[in-house]
Amino acid sequence: MSDPTPAPRALLLDGNSPADVRRAVQILQQGGIGGLPTETVYGLAADAFQPQAVARVFEAKQRPAFDPLIVHLPDLAWLPRVARQVSPLARQLAERFWPGPLTLVLPRQATVPDLVTSGLESVAVRIPAHRLAREVIAQVGSPLAAPSANPFGRISPTTAQHVCDQLADRIDFVLEGGPCTVGVESTIVQVEPEGLRLLRPGGVTVEEITAAFPQVTWLPGLPTPSQTAPQVSPGQLTQHYAPQTPLELVAWSDLPARIQAWHAARPTGRLGLLCWKEPPPIGPTSPHRHIFTHILSREGDLRVAASRLFASLRALDASQTEVILAEEVPDMGLGRAINDRLRRASARGRDEPALQVAPQSPATGETSSNHPKKLSET
Ligand code: TXA
Ligand code: MG
Repeated sequence: MSDPTPAPRALLLDGNSPADVRRAVQILQQGGIGGLPTETVYGLAADAFQPQAVARVFEAKQRPAFDPLIVHLPDLAWLPRVARQVSPLARQLAERFWPGPLTLVLPRQATVPDLVTSGLESVAVRIPAHRLAREVIAQVGSPLAAPSANPFGRISPTTAQHVCDQLADRIDFVLEGGPCTVGVESTIVQVEPEGLRLLRPGGVTVEEITAAFPQVTWLPGLPTPSQTAPQVSPGQLTQHYAPQTPLELVAWSDLPARIQAWHAARPTGRLGLLCWKEPPPIGPTSPHRHIFTHILSREGDLRVAASRLFASLRALDASQTEVILAEEVPDMGLGRAINDRLRRASARGRDEPALQVAPQSPATGETSSNHPKKLSET
């Protein structure tokens, strides 16, 4: 018997070719879905006003329907198409930070399909800073709903190749637009009459918003992963942005001891390190050849660190390490978004035994128990 027909692969389209851009536009107009570059991460785009296309996005990502999508516009004049009410503060925020990595949650127009907003009365909307993204949306002639172009709960893509690696057999195209310059997703802010609610830290920092609007009141935001509270933003699950490899957050000062303990228990175990500025000082006896280190920014620049975060996590995942020990970065500016993603990536550690050090058999180098690699689907 012959093999089943392989799933069709996504067209890889070149953002520098007007013909390729037109092709992406046509596919989207015809209800297709594809990887679209933005300055934050690559999105998986569909015409927001074609529910069947939007349904394909949910299916391709295996995303639960309770997790609403962000709608992308090419310019401010389009805002009334999706938002019913734009308060003076919302308009000022849009004028100050768009195009850019800020998503505003506003009262929605009834015409926005329920699938896009998960039935909420609000819609999340932004204008991306990537020229190609705005060009494609304008040419399609309709707002594009686009979550990050990764399987649900996994690491967001910051290159076209990342999208191909994870979704090529489930989507119609990937438009190559270079590596994402920001590297973490947009900041999500719910605009309410009493003030702003931070739903997700991201590419525009809280400090930048406060500096531009010193009079603004910050309402209680989302709980951090260690807290529990009712969900304001349904998609902000604790366990998210996860590599396949278990990830553990470790303070800089605890890293050397943690590494020694790991290698004492697992002499040939492969260990991943994700560090902020420099590798930790580890003694000469450590089996360095089993350590895979990624430095986020030697010069201590949070923008550089953000732009490298997801690619570094992917690379560590691909190095077949058994555990990734990650150091938090300073909790300010873009550091808040980076730490938020690292905490969510590590959240599994509290629920599953994956991070417990299983003793290694000296003879086989195998652990005595199965090492769970796969994250239970979120
Ligand atoms: O930078 C970004 O925001 C990227 C690029 C592609 O634009 N997109 C992105 O989308 O990160 P996604 O789907 O991975 O995250 C969007 C999150 C959802 O998980 C949900 O929590 C929140 O936006 N969201 C969407 N609509 C909402 C609403 N009406 N109210 C509250 N939160 C909402
Ligand atoms: Mg996402």
